[in-house]
Amino acid sequence: MEELLAEMEERRKAVELGGGPERIKKQHEGGKMTARERIDYLLDEGSFVELMPFAEHLETPLMQGIDAPADGVITGYGKVGGRTVFVFSQDFTVLGGSLGKTHGQKIARAMDMAAKVGAPIIGLNDSAGARIQEGVDSLSGYGEVFYRNAVYSGVVPQISAILGPCAGGAVYSPAMTDFILMGKGTSYMFITGPEVIKSVTREEVTFEQLGGSEIHTAKSGVAHLEAEGDEGVLDLIKQLLSYLPQNAKERPPVMPNGDPVERPTPELLELVNPDPKKPYNMHEVIKTLLDGGEFLEIQPAYAKNMITGFGRLGGQSVGIVANNPRFMAGALDINASDKAARFIRTCDCFNVPILTLVDVTGFLPGVGQEHQGIIRHGAKMLYAYAEATVPKITLITRKSYGGAYLAMNSKDMGADVVLAWPTGAVAVMGAEGAANIIYRKQIQSSSDPAATRAAKIAEYKKAFDNPYVAAGRGYIDDVINPADTRRLLALHLEMLATKREERPYKKHGNIPL
Ligand code: HXC
Repeated sequence: MEELLAEMEERRKAVELGGGPERIKKQHEGGKMTARERIDYLLDEGSFVELMPFAEHLETPLMQGIDAPADGVITGYGKVGGRTVFVFSQDFTVLGGSLGKTHGQKIARAMDMAAKVGAPIIGLNDSAGARIQEGVDSLSGYGEVFYRNAVYSGVVPQISAILGPCAGGAVYSPAMTDFILMGKGTSYMFITGPEVIKSVTREEVTFEQLGGSEIHTAKSGVAHLEAEGDEGVLDLIKQLLSYLPQNAKERPPVMPNGDPVERPTPELLELVNPDPKKPYNMHEVIKTLLDGGEFLEIQPAYAKNMITGFGRLGGQSVGIVANNPRFMAGALDINASDKAARFIRTCDCFNVPILTLVDVTGFLPGVGQEHQGIIRHGAKMLYAYAEATVPKITLITRKSYGGAYLAMNSKDMGADVVLAWPTGAVAVMGAEGAANIIYRKQIQSSSDPAATRAAKIAEYKKAFDNPYVAAGRGYIDDVINPADTRRLLALHLEMLATKREERPYKKHGNIPL
């Protein structure tokens, strides 16, 4: 028995060494942790249980004599904040973390287990893509993972950390997960690298310019968050998990932090300028409302005219969707619509109530937006809100005009409770535009067009540019004092906690894409 145990330990040690000390040194020199160090940092101390450490790579002619410990990926489960998660961590020191058939099967098995027991699956990606030596088998390995990304989407949370140069097939599995987080300066995502691009299109581009974290968080919208170093990314994952349930049948954990829900919010009276042309900081509004001012913004650098993120109210996790009047007057454009629609659906998958803060002039006009399909993209928001059955509360802080009024979850679009501040205004459009259209003839034929226009604008404002017409029709449940907002939102959320909404049978909806 002793001999058998010694052999087992020896084999395990060899596996744990991955690609060996030289390659580990290179990994550290590049400012990166090893695959195992990442798991240890992410999980509660001593909680990791490894699965299939002795898995062998597939034998192909080009893999003869090649050693690939654990086939380049460490898989298993453990705990984050006391809650079970499954994890896979690609080992760049073993054939560049490339994905072979066994490697793919190990990930697939971890995903199957995560779905069976109802626990999140976290991928720590650091991979050169399909393992060239395994040919079609490596593509098949990817297929197994992609398939499960789709099948388990909305079943358990799937979170992807990008911690190295993820190339080729290595980017598509993360792209099908709920969240992508990237390391600043150490991670890249691209379908084809700079060299292939140069040979095909003659464009010259660096790794960072092509697919670094800044590009993907601010420009392409592929990634949700970036952070310094592996530690920064892994810390964010822990934070993110705290707002999510274990699976679609559960609710997010309730985590009160001692901030009383009755706390008055008089700061809001100062924050929001009643003049609709004066921008204010919606981030400050959000922080004032949430427990302890804690807000984990999702996609903060992308489509800044729309704010999305998680916080808590009375300990209950909430997803915030808010216009940001500081950027493009908060108008809805293609990117903002995509960003919000995706976030709304993520919240709905995982039973996170949605709080929508509205200050929006409308959809962004322009030939570019029209030609790129603002109709199709804006429709995603309408669809996502109407489809969502989680508790939905809407607060109109200032203006809410036209189609954007509906796209920001009006009562008719399925909001459970709609509130407005006295500064709120619901109308088909702003007073100036409206007066120019409906009183055009009177203004033109008047002896003093400027005075007539001003009078008509004032008339229109009095008639529509306030919350009381909409409140009078029942589209707004109440006009409230900003100082009382936190308390009322918490009360409504608590009331909605037992909300149940059945929809007619369908195989699945067909959201415009
Ligand atoms: C097998 C690979 C590999 C691969 C790299 N390696 N890529 N092994 N399959 N795809 C090996 C190298 O031979 C090397 O082995 C080790 O991994 C580290 O690679 P380096 O090049 O030394 O590292 P680095 O300089 O850091 O560059 C990393 C890299 C580069 C940028 C990722 O390796 C690279 O460009 N690789 C190819 C990426 C790519 O084109 N992938 C797409 C595959 S096609 P040793 O033994 O020297 O340590 C694909 C399609 C799937 O993925 C489609 C599914 C939808």
